[in-house]
Amino acid sequence: MTKKMNKRMLSGIKPTGRPHIGNYFGAMRQFVELQDSFESVFVFIADYHALNTAKNPEELTNNILNLAIDYLAIGLDPQKVIFYQQSKISEHTELAWIFNTLTPMPVLERAHVYKDAKAKGKEISVGDFDYPILMSSDILIYDADVVPVGRDQKQHIEIARDTAQRFNNLYGDTFNLPEEYILESTQTIPGIDGKKMSKSYKNTIPLFSTEEEIENLSKRVVTNSDGSFPENLFTIHKLFKNEDELKPIYEKYAGQFKILKEILAEDINTFLTPLRNRRLEIEKNKSEVLDILEKGAEVAKNIASNKMVDVRKKLGVIIN
Ligand code: ADP
Ligand code: TRP
Repeated sequence: MTKKMNKRMLSGIKPTGRPHIGNYFGAMRQFVELQDSFESVFVFIADYHALNTAKNPEELTNNILNLAIDYLAIGLDPQKVIFYQQSKISEHTELAWIFNTLTPMPVLERAHVYKDAKAKGKEISVGDFDYPILMSSDILIYDADVVPVGRDQKQHIEIARDTAQRFNNLYGDTFNLPEEYILESTQTIPGIDGKKMSKSYKNTIPLFSTEEEIENLSKRVVTNSDGSFPENLFTIHKLFKNEDELKPIYEKYAGQFKILKEILAEDINTFLTPLRNRRLEIEKNKSEVLDILEKGAEVAKNIASNKMVDVRKKLGVIIN
């Protein structure tokens, strides 16, 4: 058995729709690969973060359950991972309020996500603006050391680190300073249109697509009409087949995008078949999935509430 690092890993994903291969290769797969490497691992469903966009209760409930099933289907092991719903641990939002009182507005005004939304003239809620502070609480309340995420979340982890430091400077050493863990090769997976794959751009390949969906989506991956090398197709294809195996195929079928897209679909389907089968099995037993989330929440709640006792003492709100 490999020796485990005496560190805590933590990460989360929002239940905002079907996870896509960008989420999988950029973040989710790392959760599974790292579950054996750390003394403790926390993975959660960021349902309160999702509320910024998720306004349909029925849809949100379905998305939460489906994301839990997806996580288990990709191999997250509840024996090794504390797996829970963010909303079950009210301490996250409590701590977010405390951090709010310490955070200067300009820190959040500099956040990319906020700046982009503002530049696009989008309507921004207080929840959108404050998003990085709830995320800081998610991480700091468990004293996480390592946070595996995609490239777009890097700034949020930096904000979490600064938030920990701000609290520690004022009240004494309380929170650990977390580090992001970003795999260079998969930090930004392109979508079928070549832009970053994202649910909000509607350019995704959902991870648990059917065979037919994969065939259709593969056909839609953009290639250049001048017949030049299909970078985007190749980058997506590399996720599913070794680069050395792939290069001769792309040489042999240079410019023949229809064939290359068919091979891509085949390779994605070969990769997904065992995951799909496992998902079907897990889906049959929803009560077991709910049980796992319940047990995870119990463990997380215990750690988070102990941490909050220390925080409240430091703040001076406990009278004895
Ligand atoms: P989306 O942009 O599709 O809404 P999320 O914001 O829910 O995705 O992201 C969940 C996780 O997946 C985060 O860690 C994020 O960094 C990662 N991620 C999302 N899209 C990509 C991508 N295209 N490439 C790499 N990682 C990604
Ligand atoms: N903001 C993350 C995303 O959009 C989700 C998230 C919420 C998260 N809290 C977190 C990720 C804490 C890592 C750690 O994907």
